[in-house]
Amino acid sequence: MYQTLLLLHSWSRWFVLLTGIFAVYRAYVGWSGRRPFTKGDNGISASFSGFMWLQVLIGLGLYFGLSPWGLNAMKQAGAMKDPTARFFGMEHVVVMILATVLAQVGRIALKKAPEDTLKHKKAFTYFGIALLLVLLMIPWGIWNPARPLFRF
Ligand code: HEM
Repeated sequence: MYQTLLLLHSWSRWFVLLTGIFAVYRAYVGWSGRRPFTKGDNGISASFSGFMWLQVLIGLGLYFGLSPWGLNAMKQAGAMKDPTARFFGMEHVVVMILATVLAQVGRIALKKAPEDTLKHKKAFTYFGIALLLVLLMIPWGIWNPARPLFRF
């Protein structure tokens, strides 16, 4: 079960990234070109936010249950001095949840915006910041722990 959730969490990151990059790109083109906000724009923004929530759900399962790096590692003495335990036990979780809430707030804000250019602008701003936070907090091994890009 642990391996299955880890595998899902690992692969689902690519869906978050692909939908996120696509959503931000479409928002930019729509905003700068004053294009109408289409069903496609709405669909890609819903997918981005949806995959983020999926990651949060799987992440919670790992964190509170199955992973040796979640709460289990945080309970060990000196956990905050261990960069890997601190990253997965705190930094990764807090920032990813913040990014997911930002993407959700973006969805709500763009639905409420009275006209299409404003919808694109809101989407670009909220999704852009959420995507940046996600990129920072994926364990690429640059400043945080290294994990496989493709887990099998
Ligand atoms: C958009 C949000 C998120 C993304 C893109 C993401 C991405 C990742 C990636 C790529 C890994 C490494 C997986 C591997 O080793 O192959 C990872 C590990 C982990 N994530 Fe997330 N994550 C997100 C949100 C969360 C949240 C909200 C939590 C907790 C509530 C969480 C908990 C964990 C834990 C505990 C690990 C370490 C698992 C282990 O090695 O046992 N993640 N995450």
